[in-house]
Amino acid sequence: MKFRLETLNHSDRAAFTAALGHLFEHSPWVAEETWPHRPFADAAQLHAALCATMRAAPRERQLALIQAHPDLAGRLAQQRALTAESNREQASAGLDRLGTEELAAFQSLNAAYRARFGFPFIICARLNARDAILAAMRTRATHSPEREFQTALAEIEKIAQLRLNDLLTT
Ligand code: GUN
Repeated sequence: MKFRLETLNHSDRAAFTAALGHLFEHSPWVAEETWPHRPFADAAQLHAALCATMRAAPRERQLALIQAHPDLAGRLAQQRALTAESNREQASAGLDRLGTEELAAFQSLNAAYRARFGFPFIICARLNARDAILAAMRTRATHSPEREFQTALAEIEKIAQLRLNDLLTT
């Protein structure tokens, strides 16, 4: 479904949330709590407002948002049990056609990352190909928990930006 910004600016809370709820994975509260800030002059302002809602949320809510993301090339992806957007994002990075060894590399890096940080590894899959993602998993596993928490939020903002671009008619 495509929407004009003008339409979103005039939507009631429920319609606005229905249209934008999927921009932040399994977390429609981001759209819902951004609704009172209408109207938005352009897509950039809308994206900034959504990100401001996410940033203003309590830490536990931000953590739940991070944790709502599926592992890259994880079990849910193998079973094609992801949201439509997630399926597309993983496929764009080539993660739907990994060989046995690559799949094993992803799964062991995912598990090590989760064990260290308590949340999944988040990178904007549409902006990174398979090898770049694997390299980032190895590097970022050495960072501090706080740095990774902040990186996860920044990557979620990029994911939402691309999802928003897909949604708006220009
Ligand atoms: N998990 C880690 N990166 C991503 C991404 O780009 N999209 C989705 N849906 N989940 C992720």
